[in-house]
Order: sequence, then structure tokens, then C-alpha cells
Amino acid sequence: MNKIYLASDHGGLGLKMKIIEYLKEADIKIEDLGTNSSDSVDYPDFAHKLCKKVLRNKSSQGILFCGTGLGMSIAANRYKGIRAALCHDHFTAAMSKKHNDSNVLCIGGRTTGEETAKDIVKTWLESTFEEGRHTRRLGKIEI
Ligand code: RB5
Repeated sequence: MNKIYLASDHGGLGLKMKIIEYLKEADIKIEDLGTNSSDSVDYPDFAHKLCKKVLRNKSSQGILFCGTGLGMSIAANRYKGIRAALCHDHFTAAMSKKHNDSNVLCIGGRTTGEETAKDIVKTWLESTFEEGRHTRRLGKIEI
């Protein structure tokens, strides 16, 4: 599996650390782009950092965490070429890959429990884009 970048603000830090542990146990190559302390930080700084890395390394993917996942997903989707999906469960994680070819996953540290987050991450990493009509639809997103 190709490299997974992870980043969070203070609201997503705890859950990010649990997911990093989970990915390391699964032998998945990761890079943590911060934050690494519980001090309050601004989530867009970390969304920018991660999106630039994902765009530079085409085969990589990213996972962003903030309190709700909302701010991170809004910031990440400003980048052409980034398709960031805020997922809350198994179904949204699978569909965000199958139909939307998401390359960045967003999870809320204050909205999503550890076991659900692990299931979301596993499902997201294992799911693949179905192409076909979904490729046409993705093509219509860019304006
Ligand atoms: C930080 O308090 C919080 O606003 C942030 O983590 C995130 O939820 C924003 O969308």
C-alpha cells in the first residue's frame, strides 16, 4: 500500500494517534504531519500541509482529523485534485471511494468513536473506485 499522510488539529489529535497506532500495527507506511500537542492550533494550516503532500505524491492518500471533520473537509476541498470525504460510518467510507474516488478521508475526533474510526479507515483503504459513470460525474465537478 502507498503512503498515507495524516494530520490533525488539537480536536482530532487523540483519534489521529489511535489511528496511527492502528496503521502501524497493520504495517502501513505513514507520515504524521502534526499537530503533535494539545495546544490549540488552526485546522487549515494542517489541511494545507497534507493536501500539498498528497498532490505532490500522486499515489499517496491522506487522512485529516479535526473536532468534527467539517473544517478539514472544507479546507481540503479547495484544492483542485483533492477529493476529501467526511465519513461517519462504514457505508460512507466505502461509497466515498467507490463513487467519489476520494483521496483524502476526514474524520471528527469529537464525533466518531475509536472503533468506528478504525472501521472507517480500514473500509476506506480497502475500497476502490468503480469508474464508469462515476468518472464522467467526477469530470463534471471541476469548474
Ligand atoms: C476546534 O475547536 C474545532 O473548531 C475544529 O477542530 C473543527 O471541528 C473545525 O471544523
